[in-house]
Amino acid sequence: DPLTLPLLLAGYLLGSIPSGYLAGRWLKGLDIRREGSGSTGATNVLRVVGKGAALVVFLVDVLKGTAAVVLAKLLLEPLGAPLGPDGWMIDSVVVATGLAALAGHIWPVWLGWRGGKAVATALGMLLGLTWPVGLACFGIFLAVLSLSRIVSFSSVVAAVALPLLMLGWFQQQAMGLRWPYLVLALLTSLLVIWRHRSNLGRLLAGTEPRLGEKRQDRP
Ligand code: G3P
Repeated sequence: DPLTLPLLLAGYLLGSIPSGYLAGRWLKGLDIRREGSGSTGATNVLRVVGKGAALVVFLVDVLKGTAAVVLAKLLLEPLGAPLGPDGWMIDSVVVATGLAALAGHIWPVWLGWRGGKAVATALGMLLGLTWPVGLACFGIFLAVLSLSRIVSFSSVVAAVALPLLMLGWFQQQAMGLRWPYLVLALLTSLLVIWRHRSNLGRLLAGTEPRLGEKRQDRP
């Protein structure tokens, strides 16, 4: 389809909007990649810049993911029926556009490929694709966060739950499983867990900071 490449590029560019980096630059005059965990995500903005900035960065990063997949759906879904080979192709390109947004957030060309961990952008992507699955992931994240007060741990638990929630969601659907969505859930889960590998090391060592703790934890 002639729309595939432009959509992948648009997804990547949306994902690569460097909201967290700009918050650090504009509000504190610093490079967030050199502070705290080194991530450009909202958690590190909370740690390094402040609450208001973290909330804005979180919302912008969520919207980046939603915008990418909604754009793909709006352009592609009028082109074919949701079932059959057409539907499979359309689903695949929509899913690939979402993954491109995650890639843009994690590896932004503007920041020397050093971005965030894709949690907020993945949430936005899921809300745009299968919103009940997105909401369920967010609910799990919030529940674990309220108990543990550790954002990274909560993100990893939500990421582990994602493929199961996606499977469960499609079991409720009359049209049955749409494979590209399951592949998306698996890849997103693996990507988010892999991006948290330094956090996982600190969690095992018992040195991962909790919400509100300011200490430097960049390796
Ligand atoms: O959203 C990323 C979060 O799970 C961890 O961020 O900065 O604590 O590594 P950070």
